[in-house]
Amino acid sequence: MSNTPTWTNPLRDPRDLRLPRIAGPCSLVIFGVTGDLAQKKLLPAVYDLANRGLLPPSFGLTGFARRDWTNEHFIEFVKTAVKARCRTPFKESTWENLAKGIRFVQGTFDDPAAFERLSNTVQELDRDRGTQGNHAFYMSVPPRAFPLVSKQLAASGLSRSSEGAWRRVIIEKPFGHDLQSAKELDRVVSEVFDPSSVFRIDHYLGKETVQNILALRFANEMYEPIWNSNYVDHVQITMAEDIGIGGRAGYYDGIGAARDIIQNHLLQLMALTAMEEPVSFSAQDLTAEKTKVLSAIRLPKDLRANTARGQYARGWQGSHEVVGYLDEKGIDKSSTTETYAAIRLDVDTRRWAGVPFYLRTGKRLGKRVTEIAVVFKRAPHLPFEQTAVRELGSNAVVIRVQPDEGVTMRFGAKVPGGSAMEVRDVSMDFSYGRSFTESSPEAYERLILDVLLGDPPLFPTTEEVDLSWKILDPDEMLARDGRHWRMP
Ligand code: BG6
Repeated sequence: MSNTPTWTNPLRDPRDLRLPRIAGPCSLVIFGVTGDLAQKKLLPAVYDLANRGLLPPSFGLTGFARRDWTNEHFIEFVKTAVKARCRTPFKESTWENLAKGIRFVQGTFDDPAAFERLSNTVQELDRDRGTQGNHAFYMSVPPRAFPLVSKQLAASGLSRSSEGAWRRVIIEKPFGHDLQSAKELDRVVSEVFDPSSVFRIDHYLGKETVQNILALRFANEMYEPIWNSNYVDHVQITMAEDIGIGGRAGYYDGIGAARDIIQNHLLQLMALTAMEEPVSFSAQDLTAEKTKVLSAIRLPKDLRANTARGQYARGWQGSHEVVGYLDEKGIDKSSTTETYAAIRLDVDTRRWAGVPFYLRTGKRLGKRVTEIAVVFKRAPHLPFEQTAVRELGSNAVVIRVQPDEGVTMRFGAKVPGGSAMEVRDVSMDFSYGRSFTESSPEAYERLILDVLLGDPPLFPTTEEVDLSWKILDPDEMLARDGRHWRMP
């Protein structure tokens, strides 16, 4: 028999992405469904996908949690979460259809009987809702629970699909807390799932504006010729949040800003900004370019001079007085976890030699903003000596990831009137809100749909995760600096 793939619909080439991509019969099982992420992001995203007609009518959604809830109670819980956060209008008809496929399984991760019940539930969905044996398992749980959940999925047979069906696992960050733990995690998960069935979420890759970095760079002719060390002075990547850690003390303390944000979201933004043009936008080709650039990223020799860390103190968030990090509920008063981190990185390639990339992130900063600013060198000669031109800033292209999504170009323009050649900074703006009528889907809508479709380009591979830990691994960082950690 030949291995040539056969298309199910000869009129439709599956590589053609112009038609809406709708998931086939399937279900999603969420572990950690009562947690913050599920309530705020995952459940609303599932509803929004259903409302946009991108889920099959028979879609199944199963929550697995410790609480002693009935199915009805869980359905109410999902409805409340959806109503509070859905992006598209709440429609009774969409909701009622979705609710028919919602199930709840009560149990703990160490209880094999609970996984038996889960197995019966997905089989029941196959029978009654026609999900055809296709199930995705979303681990919205702390990383320490991954090994146990993976083992239980294997022991109960849930990780194995029958002929023609699929089983996939979705892993939320953090993928470990350093290189070694990331590798260990990978080993455990790969014992149970084939690498092609593992989807690691970095939700920044699901954001429209992040995908727009590729459109901006590679669909246009005007940026790429100047996107290099001949013209670029430096790049600033900022992810600032106005919120504190909220109720996430258990997760955040001991992790901190560098591991929570720089190791994943910001290094991915940096990779997309700095990488070479991929041969195509397939997962394989994108990963090839991203891993190349991630392996060329170098920490500065003098770490002390090129990094900064801090912790937020008591202050104001808008009109509310808020506590400092050490007074947050659940935080040890002597915690040294950083809530602000900044670092300079270099890229050892011909394109970027000598161009510093500054990455910074923090909680409880003045405002919420994520952006990538590519700042250009000054013009080699400015024939305006006698004017106010010295105050002129540098040209910049700023990719505004959020909240005011768009792109800004900054340049100098002549101030009208007057006889002197006075030049001042002005900006030219593209804003998603003004140019497109459709609002951008939430990152989780896109990513959940991609998992259900088995479409991997927007998920970091294990190589990317490992390389990112190599750059930021705190132990390696010191060792490279010729130092080692003091034993406490
Ligand atoms: C998460 C971090 O990955 O991203 C959180 O763990 C952070 O600490 C969140 O608040 C920010 O996401 P967004 O999409 O609001 O920028």
